[in-house]
Amino acid sequence: MKNLLSIEEVSNEEIYAILKRAAAFEAGEPTQLEQDYLVANLFFEPSTRTKTSFETAERKVGATVIPFEAGFSSTLKGETLYDTVKTLEMIGMDAVVIRHKDDAYYKELLEGINVSVINAGDGAGQHPSQCLLDLFTIFKEFGKFEGLNVTIVGDVSHSRVAKSNASALQRLGANVHFVCPKEWQGDYSEARHDWDELLHTSDVVMLLRVQHERDAAYDGFTTEGYHAQFGLTKEREQQMKDGAIIMHPAPVNRGVEIDSDLVECDRSRIFEQVRNGVFVRMAIVETILKGRN
Ligand code: CP
Repeated sequence: MKNLLSIEEVSNEEIYAILKRAAAFEAGEPTQLEQDYLVANLFFEPSTRTKTSFETAERKVGATVIPFEAGFSSTLKGETLYDTVKTLEMIGMDAVVIRHKDDAYYKELLEGINVSVINAGDGAGQHPSQCLLDLFTIFKEFGKFEGLNVTIVGDVSHSRVAKSNASALQRLGANVHFVCPKEWQGDYSEARHDWDELLHTSDVVMLLRVQHERDAAYDGFTTEGYHAQFGLTKEREQQMKDGAIIMHPAPVNRGVEIDSDLVECDRSRIFEQVRNGVFVRMAIVETILKGRN
């Protein structure tokens, strides 16, 4: 695998290989990288988890992380993304991890760029490393995907997490359901607008963040109204079946997508997802860098 751009390009075999390698890293296995690699993280949108997690993973697999601050880079003088990445390639990077507001920003890099590109989120497009860490979290919990009922709740139309996860989970045999306000349905015509019935049958309730930065609010939207109709309240959590888990890619709008008291409840894997993200990103970075030999 030279790049990680979209989960659509990752086969089921490659997904399982990354989950297996992530489990090995969690069990304490050392890196298989034998040479020093240089990696830079180019985040043109805010990030706490993904950026820090990739940096940690890169260091843990023995790569050298070269600092890059998007807010102090020559992109502010009008340099294109292509020229920025080509410049870093010529300086000696082996891989770049990029988050960008434009959907499929990576398409302009596919011709002429030899450095490996890992997509850390493109607009409302894809978030493949989040998808893989979510799959790892689910697989650790249930040991399978086949037949699991996964309910994705929230702004599915703007969510790169929903897009990546739904596609991968369906391909791996899970039953994926969508619940959202009509205004956020997008291409998901099968989405329901009431989710109480699904609470009893879901193995995984995956909540999505309300993306205020993407102007997601519709006429009449209020955080209180959203929480009452689509938020995971304590009453709804009590209706979830035994063994069912709560996930959220975070950052969480406490009291909007989920009652604040539930963020660290027994069913919640929200912070466990963050922990798992480091092992999964170690597996991703190692796989990509080994693939360059
Ligand atoms: N889940 C996620 O992508 O979080 P950050 O925006 O903090 O990276």
